[in-house]
This record gives sequence, structure tokens and C-alpha cells, in this order.
Amino acid sequence: MPFSETLTKKLNAIVSKSETKRSALIPVLREIQNEYGYLSAQSMEEAATMLEISPSSVQNVATFYTMFFTEPAGKHIVWVCRTLSCALRGAEHVEHYMCDKLGIKTGETTPDGKITLMEAECLASCGTAPVMLVDNTLEENLTKARVDQVIQELRED
Ligand code: FES
Repeated sequence: MPFSETLTKKLNAIVSKSETKRSALIPVLREIQNEYGYLSAQSMEEAATMLEISPSSVQNVATFYTMFFTEPAGKHIVWVCRTLSCALRGAEHVEHYMCDKLGIKTGETTPDGKITLMEAECLASCGTAPVMLVDNTLEENLTKARVDQVIQELRED
């Protein structure tokens, strides 16, 4: 299925602001993922055609960056920071607690398709460790109680 007219307009706008078509690749992939939730093989091929680059170049970028999903992901993505400051302040416990509560391992999606749990590198909020990024919202100074609240909010959405 080709990109919708709306998405095509957004992608063309991104390309028109970029120095070269190739340099628009990451923002284009981000926009496609915003639309569909992940990057299907077909959408990567369409992006390649649009940007006049090889499908393997698109696939290489899509599989290199952890922010891109090449399989369907959950409605909500939770990124638990595992870098030093967060690690020193209990990120491992946060992650294990999330896994227990959600019944999944890191990198997996809950059976209802609501939540995908991922590990992240430093989220640039070391002073408020441990932190996690829930979609586009940073959750800081995490406690079990706050993790419980976040999970409940995501499940109810
Ligand atoms: S180490 Fe977690 S935000 Fe920097």
C-alpha cells in the first residue's frame, strides 16, 4: 500500500528542507514510524524510492538505530535508561520490576499490544536518575509507586 497523501506531503516537506535527499533519511523514517508505528519492509522500499537510494541503505539505517522498529511495536514505548548514573541509582531494579509487572522481557511487547519495553542509553537527565522515557515524556526519580502509576495509565489508554 503506498503512503497516504497526507504522509506523502509530510515526507516531501522534510525532503524539501534537506540539503540532499539522502540526508532526509532519518527524519523521513521517523515520520513513517510515527504514522504506522514501525517500519515495514514495504515502507522502507518506498522510502528508498522516494529518496533515490538503495533499499539496503534504508534497511541499514533502520536496523542500526534502536529508536526504529522493523517489527510492529506496542502503542506505547517505554525506554528505561541503563547508563551509569541511572545504573548506580537502581535502573536495573526498575527494569526488572517493569518486566515482572508487564510479564515480558526487555525488547518485547505486552500481549495486548499496549507496551513495548526497551533499554536506552543516557537520556540526558542523569541528575534525576533513575529515569525512563515513556513515549515522549521523561519520568524521573523513579520509584516502584511511580512505575505502577505509569503502567496503569498506559494500560488504561
Ligand atoms: S545515565 Fe540515565 S539519564 Fe543519564
